[in-house]
Amino acid sequence: MANLGTLLFLPGDGIGPEVMDEVRRVGAWLTKARGHEFEIVEGLVGGASYDAHGTPLTDDTLEQAKGADAVLLGAVGGPKWDDLDFAVKPERGLLRLRKEMDLYANLRPAVVFDALVDASSLKPDLVSGLDILIVRELTGGVYFGEPRGIEDLGDGTFRGVNTQVYETEEIRRVGRVAFDLARQRDSRVCSVEKSNVMESGLLWRNEMDKLHQAEYADMDLSHMYADNCAMQLVREPKQFDVIVTDNLFGDMLSDEAAMLTGSLGMLPSASLGNTDVNGRRAALYEPVHGSAPDIAGTGAANPLATILSFAMMLRYSFGLESEAAAIEVAAGEILKGGLRTADIMQPGMAKVSTHVMGEALIGELQKSEVAVA
Ligand code: IPM
Ligand code: MG
Repeated sequence: MANLGTLLFLPGDGIGPEVMDEVRRVGAWLTKARGHEFEIVEGLVGGASYDAHGTPLTDDTLEQAKGADAVLLGAVGGPKWDDLDFAVKPERGLLRLRKEMDLYANLRPAVVFDALVDASSLKPDLVSGLDILIVRELTGGVYFGEPRGIEDLGDGTFRGVNTQVYETEEIRRVGRVAFDLARQRDSRVCSVEKSNVMESGLLWRNEMDKLHQAEYADMDLSHMYADNCAMQLVREPKQFDVIVTDNLFGDMLSDEAAMLTGSLGMLPSASLGNTDVNGRRAALYEPVHGSAPDIAGTGAANPLATILSFAMMLRYSFGLESEAAAIEVAAGEILKGGLRTADIMQPGMAKVSTHVMGEALIGELQKSEVAVA
């Protein structure tokens, strides 16, 4: 039995803990069927951490995250914590993890499973076979720029300020991730900004051009304004291979791309940082969907986005390509078999719970092992 390293599980809030339970079972399958073992440590984040410690992320948990080989996070937030001060809101826990672990490249693949082509709100021929990758800058831009705050103007009115700011190296490093990933795909990168109105967008475009010429001249780079990109994603999404964009545009465009696939409940993500001297890359994996407080505890959540995030972890943090692919194929197979959680329910299909979906996935994985043997 090979111990591959330490995983920090942060289930978080809402449906986070439920979907994470199903991932644990996939982990158990990996140990039993493939002999890969992880040491799993568990911690609190978001509202769960606030309730226990008065902060959405403790320093101890942050240290554990930095020391782990990979972090898997469920979701954060919910109405229970809506009125909290900005500094201790559940979301701040996630943002602090991203920032302090320097996870600057957020990979959000939008892949349409054949069985879900009809679940998309777009016409089937527009989305069938869709496979695009959004690389979102995750530690800069308006999410973290200074100055920020709400200023009291003293006459009963206020001034809210956030700052969009990017420096050369921040743009280049996420650009490199996008080009490197595109090389393993169709070698096409579309860089997205608003250089027609924002200086930071103009710098973004210029730096991408320079990087392209200096290091990736054999590849295809195009530029697009963010508003046009939002439109093109619903007009003709298959024109894209890899999209690279800033933190805020990436937040919005990735939700839009997610919907092309039929449900936010299907989409995994990986947030990657630098590689240390031991060759270990800082990494956090999480579903793109949120904590869905309205269905938390009802067993209705779709566990596939988190399970597919676990698969991304196997691929990017541990080089277990065949295991990652096996999980992705198994997810496609159970969808083909007609199982659906509520978010992707279609006429004539069988509506199942979070747990039954997880069980079916394990069943499918076991079947494929038998087939191999
Ligand atoms: C996301 C989420 C987060 C973000 C929130 C929860 C802070 O929407 O990961 O896309 O805005 O980055
Ligand atoms: Mg978002």
